[in-house]
Amino acid sequence: MPEDDAAYQTDRNLALELVRVTEAAALAASRWMGLGRKNEADGAAVEAMRKAFDTVAISGTVVIGEGEMDEAPMLFIGETVGSGGPRMDIAVDPLEGTTLTANGGPNALAVIAVAEHGNFLHAPDIYMQKIAVGGGLPEGVIDIDAKVGENLRNLARAKKCDVSDLVACMLDRERHAELIAHTREAGARIMLLTDGDVAGVMATAQSDSGVDIFMGSGGAPEGVLAAAALRCIGGQMQGRLLYEDESQVARARQMGVDDPKRVYSVMQMAKGPVLFAATGVTGGPMLRGVRRTAHGAVTHSVVMRSKSGTVRFVEAHHNFATKTWGVN
Ligand code: FBP
Repeated sequence: MPEDDAAYQTDRNLALELVRVTEAAALAASRWMGLGRKNEADGAAVEAMRKAFDTVAISGTVVIGEGEMDEAPMLFIGETVGSGGPRMDIAVDPLEGTTLTANGGPNALAVIAVAEHGNFLHAPDIYMQKIAVGGGLPEGVIDIDAKVGENLRNLARAKKCDVSDLVACMLDRERHAELIAHTREAGARIMLLTDGDVAGVMATAQSDSGVDIFMGSGGAPEGVLAAAALRCIGGQMQGRLLYEDESQVARARQMGVDDPKRVYSVMQMAKGPVLFAATGVTGGPMLRGVRRTAHGAVTHSVVMRSKSGTVRFVEAHHNFATKTWGVN
């Protein structure tokens, strides 16, 4: 029996409320799929997500969001959302994969994670070096400071397979040329993503995704969201903020980062009980994309709670005649 029934119930109900919010964002963004206009797709997702938050019974503060108040009209860092209730911190990416959506590519998601106040790393919008593997592996099997080959050999040993059986996933970026070369030298296979490293990290924790390890740099806010997901589904991840100049270091310090070179574990990026919800905008190995029907649309989402470890897939059939989300 849970120690605090009220908190337990809130947590359970909130998990399902969050799905409505990611569904709203995905539905809105999906109208822009393949139209080559990523900003419009993003704007539609942000607006729909912001509106949907009004019905969620929390006093939420956005800690990972669309940017600063002066550059983002909605879901900016520090904005309060929700209709009132327990004090929570919110991490959002209303459209993770703006270019993917604009090109009709795979794996674009609408994402939210929620934690108790103060429990998310306040990551500035800079890059983060990341390495992640799924659950059930010995602690310390990956080390962000180890050589690529060493990590791959340790992982292969832990998985009782050859390095050549492993698939390493990373973003297809010029900055990863060396990482790609070292991965190939070590003998592992590679899956290059055009975008969407939240899905890339999550894939390591899905047994049927064919991905064994995620490596490379991507957005720091996406790193925190991915860590929140791993808190629920299991997995190890390490992240280190990467700075392009002194102003980024100063910005990180201002946001509470005391040691700019610190390596963060999953738990240090997303502490305490965490909720995570995502809805597919375009399809991928975990979630199907939004499908239009004669009367509305079908969404496919995942919602997870770290407390229980439950991973729930939700297929929702939306009837646009009711115009619930104003997306029609
Ligand atoms: P957006 O949805 O903001 O376009 O982010 C997509 C993404 O691929 C993220 O998943 C990733 O963390 C980041 O961009 C990588 O940044 P960059 O494209 O600069 O390498």
